[in-house]
Amino acid sequence: MTSFRSLWMGLLLLEVLGLLGVLQLGAQAQVFVQSDFQEDKFMGRWFSAGLASNSSWFLEKKAVMSMCSTVVAPSADGGLNLTSTFLRKDQCETRTMQLQPTGTPGSYSYHSLRWDRTSLISVVETNYNEYALLDTKGIDHDFRMATLYSRTQTPRAELKEKFSAFCEARGFTEDTIVFLPKTDKCMKEQE
Ligand SMILES: *[C@@H]1O[C@H](CO)[C@@H](O)[C@H](O)[C@H]1NC(C)=O
Ligand SMILES: *[C@@H]1O[C@H](CO)[C@@H](O)[C@H](O)[C@H]1NC(C)=O
Repeated sequence: MTSFRSLWMGLLLLEVLGLLGVLQLGAQAQVFVQSDFQEDKFMGRWFSAGLASNSSWFLEKKAVMSMCSTVVAPSADGGLNLTSTFLRKDQCETRTMQLQPTGTPGSYSYHSLRWDRTSLISVVETNYNEYALLDTKGIDHDFRMATLYSRTQTPRAELKEKFSAFCEARGFTEDTIVFLPKTDKCMKEQE
């Protein structure tokens, strides 16, 4: 009952936010989106080169995580399909996240069926051909994450600094930021 109510509130909030254009989540935190976001240029393969989160799950796992490859493709409902391939227990696993449009270009909602939770994922900054800085925020639960997407597995040092600054501006302390090591496993072309 409670979760249904908060989900409904979340959806209502998304609608209002979409209308406002600027996503204002609570008094203290605003999420901006890349201006003039061009979704078509955001498609294709990205590598998750950096992550920051203070969730205990992430802090436990971050030492053993490695870079994963994500293919962004348009989905039928006007959102995005994010298909990630990663190594888990010595096997390559593929998982697709279906992001729904919010009405604001560059901003998407994601509902996890497994956890029955909704998050807002925004492309805060990107130049499309090299990097993207993403912000993930729980709408009906307390979760925040920052992600560095890189078109290559070897992001430039300047890009890493940019990501660190992006994370720090969002309140993430240094110990919650991780640059994921590159791996050859599960990185084969597959589309
Ligand atoms: C998006 O992903 C879902 C779930 O894997 C799949 O059923 C659907 O066909 C995909 N959509 C497109 C346009 O590829
Ligand atoms: C870190 O976690 C605490 C407790 O869960 C939360 O209140 C805080 O907002 C989080 N900080 C960030 C930057 O996500």
